[in-house]
Amino acid sequence: MKRTKFLQNLGLLSGSLALGPIAKLYGVDSPFGLALKQSDNDDDFWRIIREQFVFPDDYIYMNTGGIGALPSLVINKVVTSMNEQERFPRPGHSHDNWIDIKKTCAALFGTECKVEELALISCATEGINIILNGIGLKAGDEIITSTHEHPALHIPLLNHHRLNKVNIITFDPDMHSAAGNIDRISRLITNKTRMIFISHVTCTTGQVFPIKEIGELAKSKGIILAVDGAQAPGSMEINVNNLDVDYYVCSGHKWMLGPKRTGILYVPSKNLDFLQPTTVGAYSDSGYDISKMSLTLQDSAQRYEFGTQNEPLFLGLGAGAQFVQTIGLKKIQAHNRELAEAFYEGLSGIKGVEILSPEEKEYRSSIISFRIKSQKAQDVASFLGKGKAIRVRVVTEAGLNGVRASFHVYNQRFEVDKILNKIADFSKQ
Ligand SMILES: Cc1ncc(COP(=O)(O)O)c(C=O)c1O
Repeated sequence: MKRTKFLQNLGLLSGSLALGPIAKLYGVDSPFGLALKQSDNDDDFWRIIREQFVFPDDYIYMNTGGIGALPSLVINKVVTSMNEQERFPRPGHSHDNWIDIKKTCAALFGTECKVEELALISCATEGINIILNGIGLKAGDEIITSTHEHPALHIPLLNHHRLNKVNIITFDPDMHSAAGNIDRISRLITNKTRMIFISHVTCTTGQVFPIKEIGELAKSKGIILAVDGAQAPGSMEINVNNLDVDYYVCSGHKWMLGPKRTGILYVPSKNLDFLQPTTVGAYSDSGYDISKMSLTLQDSAQRYEFGTQNEPLFLGLGAGAQFVQTIGLKKIQAHNRELAEAFYEGLSGIKGVEILSPEEKEYRSSIISFRIKSQKAQDVASFLGKGKAIRVRVVTEAGLNGVRASFHVYNQRFEVDKILNKIADFSKQ
């Protein structure tokens, strides 16, 4: 690829990036920018990206669906800001930094996503709980969800069943047809249905649910749609404002390449007064007076934030989100999907392998899952992890007995061949 094209992809020439303090990390004169300038083909490009990560060259990491790895610039951002903070200890966090971080993250949610619609939270699980606790669920209400959700959603749902007698109605995802999922949800809707709460991309098989269509269905029936996006922003282009979702949560530590214990909650302005914050404190308000019994909450999703923040961690999240944007979501999605498809194709040629990911290509993602007939998934994963380790994740959810491989910016084509060869070896045993 030509140098100019590279720089355009990186947004380094176009000035298209919001150049706050975070973006400066990736300037043309940064080591990262300089290295990229020198690359002149696609393999070089991804090799340079790989060099930004500190794990050993022969460690094949295919579990971004669990935890993403941090680029060294992100690690440095966290460490330097923590050092700076401790040189002049003071309470509170910088409002300007906070806005800058949200601006940078908002870009991964689509061009129309506004800073006021995002709350910085500790993880996707926290966001799921904020939503379930804040919509005024009562006994007899029904929530529709899939059997392929992460424990981060199933456990809070079951807790509402336990505490509030809310009924949880499940469907098994249709792996043959995206439209089949709309039908399955549609058939479960009753006059007691309050909410549909599902993943954007499932953690089990990487299935992309047709969120826009499900959003239209929910809207037409007056039902809330909440989406667990832990596996989406940072791995694919999304435009959350166009999806007809009421709430959307994601982790910062997976595809956005941010530190652990960071996450994002999206609440469109129209839903602010409906979703009641149930844990509040300093920063949730724009004014209060105990002598007058008055409290005014922030007129933004900041009302869901509270208490002392770990600012260096979130500066790291902003730096991770900027790293993703510097490469470009379109380019990342194409890269990740190319590797995932090569893996899918390869798996389909190995005897004894059963692919668990969807049949329809456009509803597959950067995650592909499979199982080997009559073998325990844990044994397959342990075999892959031996020696020059390939890290994957076992899928126990819904009794799938599967193995999941995730593909992100640090993965390269030769790694797909390596894992396929190892799976072929195992399946011969
Ligand atoms: C779909 C899904 N939702 C939620 C989570 C939990 O995320 P967090 O640790 O940010 O709460 C995960 C983690 O793997 C996930 O895959």
